[in-house]
Amino acid sequence: MTGDVDTRAASPSGKRPSVVLGVSGGIAAYKAAELLRRFTESGHDVTVVPTAAALEFVGAPTWEALSGKAVATEVFEEITEVPHVRLGQNADLVVVAPATANTLARAAHGLADDLLTNVLLTARCPVVFAPAMHTEMWEHAATQENVATLRRRGALVIDPAEGRLTGKDTGKGRLPDPAEIFEFAQAVLARRGATDLAGRHVVVSAGGTREYLDPVRFLGNRSSGIQGYAIARAAAARGAEVTVVAANVALPDPAGVKVAHVETTAQLHDAMTTYAVGADAVVMAAAPADFRPTSVSEAKIKKAADGSAPSIELTQNADILRELSQHRGKPGQVVVGFAAETGDDTGSVLDLARAKLARKGCDLLVVNDVSGGAVFGSADNEAVILGSDGTAAEVPAGTKAALAQVICDHIVARL
Ligand code: CTP
Repeated sequence: MTGDVDTRAASPSGKRPSVVLGVSGGIAAYKAAELLRRFTESGHDVTVVPTAAALEFVGAPTWEALSGKAVATEVFEEITEVPHVRLGQNADLVVVAPATANTLARAAHGLADDLLTNVLLTARCPVVFAPAMHTEMWEHAATQENVATLRRRGALVIDPAEGRLTGKDTGKGRLPDPAEIFEFAQAVLARRGATDLAGRHVVVSAGGTREYLDPVRFLGNRSSGIQGYAIARAAAARGAEVTVVAANVALPDPAGVKVAHVETTAQLHDAMTTYAVGADAVVMAAAPADFRPTSVSEAKIKKAADGSAPSIELTQNADILRELSQHRGKPGQVVVGFAAETGDDTGSVLDLARAKLARKGCDLLVVNDVSGGAVFGSADNEAVILGSDGTAAEVPAGTKAALAQVICDHIVARL
């Protein structure tokens, strides 16, 4: 793991969140070691519960060294501690990563034939499964029905990622990036596992578009995609099916979220219009360019021999948020926009934002004051959320993850 030690779990009361990390027997078990480190280094108290098959892939010494605790696979080990009951009862979160088809089946059917399945039956906290298996096993009706059963009971099952599987196969079935499973788990812990967006489809745009002048040059903007990805993550952790349309975002795909990559405003427009059909909520967190060069040169533009500078003629792009607001993809769909404002001679940040909310026709407008270049690329944000009903909710300075949760609260309240 790289980067600074993450201390998000340290609470004022000093109680460290207690996490049970279940590991089942798949080749992706080695990736759970990184997930474990992320939990321990950010102050969580982690007990690893591998299945017997998991120990065929990664041995007990790895789990014991990284967690600082002995590991057991069966209920008859350390029996005086009654671990099969205590672990589940005391946990704030159970994460099973990787979750094999076999472990999903055992969990869905309530079996209690090893320590992990006993923990799953006694846990009263949120439970997250991160499945990893071959595409055929994931797509099998038995697995899909088991996943649906677990979700119906309130468990969060992260859809596997697409990509390289064991051997030469590629397809859906990869364990998402451990760092992203960790972020998902943080979002679940933040809401104590509330799945108030279960059964809902949320579409989020993120990043900034590029408008090409020639094959190598473009007009772009500084939007990083961090806020859009945080909203996608928060919605997924609250049980929603989430699609992100990402414009030039250089971040790993959030766990359990479908990501469609685009570059230009025209591509963003087409993707959002397509995915918005049938969606319960649409969030325009991306920064689309308002203008594009009227013509794109097929060859790289050269300097003129006389030293004169070329002029660029611009054409206005579609206002995607306005269109999405005017032509909803589903009755009752909640449409959320963002406004990055600096305020000027004609009005304050909030005056301009109120006018923008009315102009765009969306239900909610998340207003950032970007005077002095604040917000872009930063992990923190502060905002005011304006409602079309005249409400204004101030969100104090905090992380973009925290703001994402508040935005989801407002969406839930309007659905
Ligand atoms: N937006 C959009 N399509 C555009 C431009 C912006 O959908 N072509 C969306 C953004 O995703 C954001 C909201 O509109 O949710 C407001 O973006 P902003 O750049 O503040 O608004 P503009 O319409 O560009 O207004 P301004 O005249 O202030 O630049």
